[in-house]
Amino acid sequence: MFCTEGINSEHALCDIGTSYIGRTIHFYRTVDSTQAIALSLAEQRSDNLHGTVIISEDQRKGRGRMGRKWISPRGGIYLSLIVQPKIEPTQSSILSLLSALSVCNVINKMTNLNAKLKWPNDVVINGRKVCGILLDLSIDDDKINFVVIGIGVNANIDVTKIDPDIQTSSGYYGITSLKNEFHGKKIDKFVFIQLLLENIESYIIQLENRGAKEIIKNYKEVSDTLGKVVTVKQSTKFLHGIAVDIDENEGFLLIETPSGCIHKVVSGDVIIKNIKKA
Ligand code: BTN
Repeated sequence: MFCTEGINSEHALCDIGTSYIGRTIHFYRTVDSTQAIALSLAEQRSDNLHGTVIISEDQRKGRGRMGRKWISPRGGIYLSLIVQPKIEPTQSSILSLLSALSVCNVINKMTNLNAKLKWPNDVVINGRKVCGILLDLSIDDDKINFVVIGIGVNANIDVTKIDPDIQTSSGYYGITSLKNEFHGKKIDKFVFIQLLLENIESYIIQLENRGAKEIIKNYKEVSDTLGKVVTVKQSTKFLHGIAVDIDENEGFLLIETPSGCIHKVVSGDVIIKNIKKA
């Protein structure tokens, strides 16, 4: 493994059990955004980057989905992963679902916090967001050139200190951190990252070899969205109904509206009402 700008890098992640993800890791103490670094690396040189990871202790200009910011104080996990998977561009949304599923798996392996997934790619604990995923995709001639998967986990941070800053942003439904849920106890971030990269690699190999079906099955088992009454905000329009299923090939959310029509939702913010379908 190759590490740069090492904070504990000589010790960190040395036992990683992956074949390509995390074989090269660039560690930083602080950056504007790991996503920006990964994107510029991938744009300059798109060969031999498969599995390269950029990790920073904090970010000055963390980027979230839909033009939002991602507040990134020290103590959180901020990483961007460059992959060049052998999949069709239409399957790329599965990469963000499997990344969120991997974070969920690791939280549930390392803690008893019962993390779940809010479609498409938020990881939640007790309905509050603990992790977000950002996917940047480069496609050439109908073929994936590279994908940068950005992952931000509110790990060992106190969200009560950052909450007021983001409460007013669109799509906000509450945030939490592992430390807050864990009554102040900290998790080992390097063990977390190692397990996370191992999980992501094994799901990507599964996706390349056997398609999305089993991954979506695993995803549905920890879904916090299915069976609930939801409103989906799609730019200026709202769609109300019950989240009845997730498409097993492309990961779309299927919503049944009161008229009985099934709508396929490709992307958007989902607002969940806490009413279970009878
Ligand atoms: C979201 O809005 O839910 C996605 C947040 C993604 C944040 C991560 S932190 C690491 C990477 N670098 C960034 O600037 N953003 C992503």
